[in-house]
Amino acid sequence: MERSLSEITKNLKQSGIRAASARCNEIGGINLGQGICDLPIHPLIKEAAHRAIEEDRSIYSSCEGILPLREALSEKLRTFNKIQAAPSEIVVTHGSTGAFVCAVEALFEPGDEVILFEPFYSYHKNILELKKVKVLAVPISFDEFDVERLKKRVTPKTKGIVICTPCNPSGKVFTQNELLEIGRMAKMMGLWVITDEIYEYITYPGHVHISLASLEDFKEFTVTISGFSKTYHMTGWRLGYLAAPALLASKIALIQDLIYVCPATPLQHAVLAALKLNEAYYRDMASAYLKKRDFLVAALTKANFQIFKPQGAYYLLADFSQLGFADDKEASRFLLEECKIATVPGGNFYLNPSDGKNLVRFCFAVDDIKLEKATCFLKEIYATKN
Ligand SMILES: Cc1ncc(COP(=O)(O)O)c(C=O)c1O
Repeated sequence: MERSLSEITKNLKQSGIRAASARCNEIGGINLGQGICDLPIHPLIKEAAHRAIEEDRSIYSSCEGILPLREALSEKLRTFNKIQAAPSEIVVTHGSTGAFVCAVEALFEPGDEVILFEPFYSYHKNILELKKVKVLAVPISFDEFDVERLKKRVTPKTKGIVICTPCNPSGKVFTQNELLEIGRMAKMMGLWVITDEIYEYITYPGHVHISLASLEDFKEFTVTISGFSKTYHMTGWRLGYLAAPALLASKIALIQDLIYVCPATPLQHAVLAALKLNEAYYRDMASAYLKKRDFLVAALTKANFQIFKPQGAYYLLADFSQLGFADDKEASRFLLEECKIATVPGGNFYLNPSDGKNLVRFCFAVDDIKLEKATCFLKEIYATKN
């Protein structure tokens, strides 16, 4: 008898991003592709992790996460995000990815439609599709937002909207007016909104992070997702969280119990120390990224890329139309093989990959020495392609 794999496995393949990272390691290149964020973790958080392990805080936690952490997150959400969320409305999750997976399980059925703003974070699309949700895309730019365009995309099958702010890959930070228009529309049309705010602390001058759930009564239909990976440089710790109305949060916690049981208990204790870091930590982080952003923007502009200057997060999309590459894959391949810089082809961020065929994404969450080295390689591209 022949054995078969599930239907979903037929379309699964290793992401180009991971393949580029592997090749980049092989050739000793600089990885500006994957958002790995290999900067060091603050010593106080490391000490807290050692302590939690020494103290044998090693057993399963409750599926919604330890209470002291949910209490600390409730305070963080109140003061930073201006969201009033009781500990019972908060779930500590297996990374913000785990939060998104569980929220999608709790909210949508196969065949439902969910709107993403394009360019989008490809995991959002892929996770929705894993659940057999149909993804609809609405293009959005830095300075124009047309709520009518968004409304027109909604059909009777549409159940939700995903907002990523600050956005990976574009670096767009949604304004209060944009969020108000989206929220009012979602309220009127009975849609859920999931916001991915994992880059909330990384915004650049002139732009502020605003949480949709802090506005009007939008909290009632919003799942606010964030995580520790990016703010505290711990992408491998796999810790995130979400805030949602109490009933929904409790269902999400039950789903998390089935899929992950709970997030890593000693690390939940350790990140309590992260939440005690003072304002200066966040200020210094944002200004360090600002310096990196400006450095990379200048180098890429010099090499004749056209840049959409990020307003937040640590990625930028660069248009290489003037450099004569056939498409995004060819540009990314050239950058990797000839310049030893891994990037991500723009097509990854669009439903129709050809819409990103003139773009590559650079991630600048690397230490300054690597960034400087990468810009030296870029000088070579300038020399060969001009
Ligand atoms: C927008 C966005 N959300 C979520 C994640 C993953 O976060 P986590 O490590 O918390 O799962 C990333 C990582 O690149 C991201 O860019």
